Amino acid sequence: MTSLQLHAPLDMHLHVREGDMLQTVTPLSAQAFAGAVIMPNLVPPVTSRDRLESYRAAIHAASQGQAFTPYMTLFFQSYDAATLSDLRPDIIGIKLYPAGVTTNSETGVRAIADAAPTLAIMQDLGIPLLVHGETHGFVLDREREFLPIYDQLATRFPRLTIVMEHITTREAVAFLDRYPNVYATVTLQHLLYTLDDLAGALLQPHLFCKPLVKRPEDRETLLAAALSAHPKLMFGSDSAPHPQSAKECSGCAAGVFSAPIALPRLVELFEQHQALDKLQAFVSENAQRIYRIQPPARVVTLSKIPWVVPERYGTVVPMQAGETLAWQVVA
Ligand code: DOR
Ligand code: ZN
Repeated sequence: MTSLQLHAPLDMHLHVREGDMLQTVTPLSAQAFAGAVIMPNLVPPVTSRDRLESYRAAIHAASQGQAFTPYMTLFFQSYDAATLSDLRPDIIGIKLYPAGVTTNSETGVRAIADAAPTLAIMQDLGIPLLVHGETHGFVLDREREFLPIYDQLATRFPRLTIVMEHITTREAVAFLDRYPNVYATVTLQHLLYTLDDLAGALLQPHLFCKPLVKRPEDRETLLAAALSAHPKLMFGSDSAPHPQSAKECSGCAAGVFSAPIALPRLVELFEQHQALDKLQAFVSENAQRIYRIQPPARVVTLSKIPWVVPERYGTVVPMQAGETLAWQVVA
């Protein structure tokens, strides 16, 4: 039987929510990944030590004994130096959302200029900035329109590590080469799909996320960067579960739930493109180098045994529900 081993695969962008949802989805990531960067867009958002530590404890408890490190983030707001130096050892970064661009971002940043004092502190303390880089412009152009803001940030804070989260365009891939302090994550859905898959025929709510999947040439450029393990690109699933009732309705929530298939589907994708030798860098080594982290020394084994993706995990419908995948995590 064909098998493959990955050392400490990491998901550098993950939503696990709280309560019952957290209980349902966390084990699915913990089973496949040695760690994940946990997004702070809860209601209310994660902005204090109390909230951070109870969130971490809930994830730890739900990980069912797996060696799975939740790399915690704070929700960007104005913080003073004392607060951030106190929290520095306990976070991997701070996530900035422009106000209102996506799920639970209403308390995000309204004017990027107001963020400068906190960004200066983060730069001094070596705290990475993770960014949901979309404007409020035309929906297909939002990421491209945000690039000048990345320009300003990278220039004004040259020692600040800036991660463009879930990039979706060829312009964003090209942007990686512009500044030494700019990196990016990319999701599985943006490597696989375009707007045609989402809305070209019957609408597919389970492929709807922000930022939207884009044009074929965008997908091709992202895929080429991932398959070559571009040294500034990391895997981040952006798995973002919503109950089926919030997806299959009028006013569909944004978010693709990919956690249960992310790693097996990535293996299949890299295998199809004869790029399996690059997968270790894409799902772990790049992230370890960029963030200077040492995840648990865990080996995840996948075998080429077909399985059918369940229609539902609890109340959530996963990406590729009902489809057959070629690989599965076995240990
Ligand atoms: O589609 C998305 N869903 N994009 C985000 O940025 C947030 C996420 C969520 O939390 O549901
Ligand atoms: Zn996200």
